[in-house]
Amino acid sequence: MKYKLKELTIENFKVKTLAKNYDTPIYCYSFEKIKNNINKFKKVFLKINPLICFSVKSNSNSNLLREINKLGLGADVVSMGELMKALKSGINPNKIVFSGVGKTSEEIIFAVKKKILLINAESKSEILEIEKIAKKTNNKVNVGLRLNPNTDAGTLSQISTGKKENKFGVSEEIFIDLVEYLKNSKYLKLKCLSVHIGSQILNHKPYIKMLKVIEKIIKKTQFYFEYIDLGGGMGIDYENKKRKINLKKYALSVEKFKKRNNSKIIFEPGRSIVGDSGYLISKIIYIKEGYKKDFIILDAAMNDLMRPALYNAKHRIIPAKKNKTQSLKIYEFVGPICESTDKFSTVNKFQKLKEKDLIVICDVGAYGMSLSSNYNLRPKPIELLIKNSKIKIISKRQDLKELV
Ligand code: LLP
Repeated sequence: MKYKLKELTIENFKVKTLAKNYDTPIYCYSFEKIKNNINKFKKVFLKINPLICFSVKSNSNSNLLREINKLGLGADVVSMGELMKALKSGINPNKIVFSGVGKTSEEIIFAVKKKILLINAESKSEILEIEKIAKKTNNKVNVGLRLNPNTDAGTLSQISTGKKENKFGVSEEIFIDLVEYLKNSKYLKLKCLSVHIGSQILNHKPYIKMLKVIEKIIKKTQFYFEYIDLGGGMGIDYENKKRKINLKKYALSVEKFKKRNNSKIIFEPGRSIVGDSGYLISKIIYIKEGYKKDFIILDAAMNDLMRPALYNAKHRIIPAKKNKTQSLKIYEFVGPICESTDKFSTVNKFQKLKEKDLIVICDVGAYGMSLSSNYNLRPKPIELLIKNSKIKIISKRQDLKELV
């Protein structure tokens, strides 16, 4: 993303041209960014040689999944739908892990049939259910057990998962009991200890703490885990404040951990792979004078990008064309939906805008389209992928007639 002669471009395509050709709102992704993120991730964890399972919930577009598969990643899925899509996109079942607290029997049967690498169970009831299915279908099923390490990830409470009050994983005591149980199971083979402490984590220290907890518990169980699945959660710099997680330090700790425990490492990154690859292009419908600020009413809304309304998340908004105006304005960027939370951001010093101007909301590649809905009966936007100087429509704008 760059300004060229004041015009904003994404991978050399003018935002103005994209809007003209495809109408707005548009989700537009850069393949180059995804590729670079994957290469950077691989490089920093090179010595660990991990299995990287892309977290499909962050973006489940089939085209993107196919590209991510070609770049060597597996998948972390949390529903039958995601599992089906991952398989359909060519991802090898032995690179797929299945997480989630509420897998139904139907989902477990499907996963067993497809012989995926691991079903990461999150409760005793789930272990018993998988065992029942394995027995019935006469299979020996590979399972992981998700530990709740009671570690504060220091992230937003809404996306924190690793504390004991969260619904995810099992406590240390139950974990140890279940390992004992599984040692004697005829139908289940315990292969993995999994954790995931939260999302948008910007500090490596919670991860180091988490590793210590895992190691302590491994010692207590005296069990050899072939895999340790460390989950995802690596944060990105949404606000351009140069706040970055120190992945090198995390990698160093994982390296030492791996040497001591001799397990294969799995990661499940989502946001750090696709987050900064996506842009939401939107047109201003109206500008309305308000008290102390003006409302910029966009044609994109909370149904298209839910994160600001749901978590008060911040996404940078930038104009598609820079102008020279000296008068900087206070603008509140909102959508047309009939809710006060349908608001993207308030910006104190923005260049003067006018109706029909275009703006771009940044870093929407993860949990953007995948969290979108048809609220207010609004069709979902078109998705474009720019790869090798070519634009590809990777999902069409939803047809309003079909929706109605
Ligand atoms: N593994 C497990 C078991 C997870 O639950 C998640 C995310 C991930 C991996 C991937 O985490 P990531 O690397 O993308 O942080 N909708 C929220 C984020 C929810 C994350 C849920 N779990 C948001 O928009 O910020």
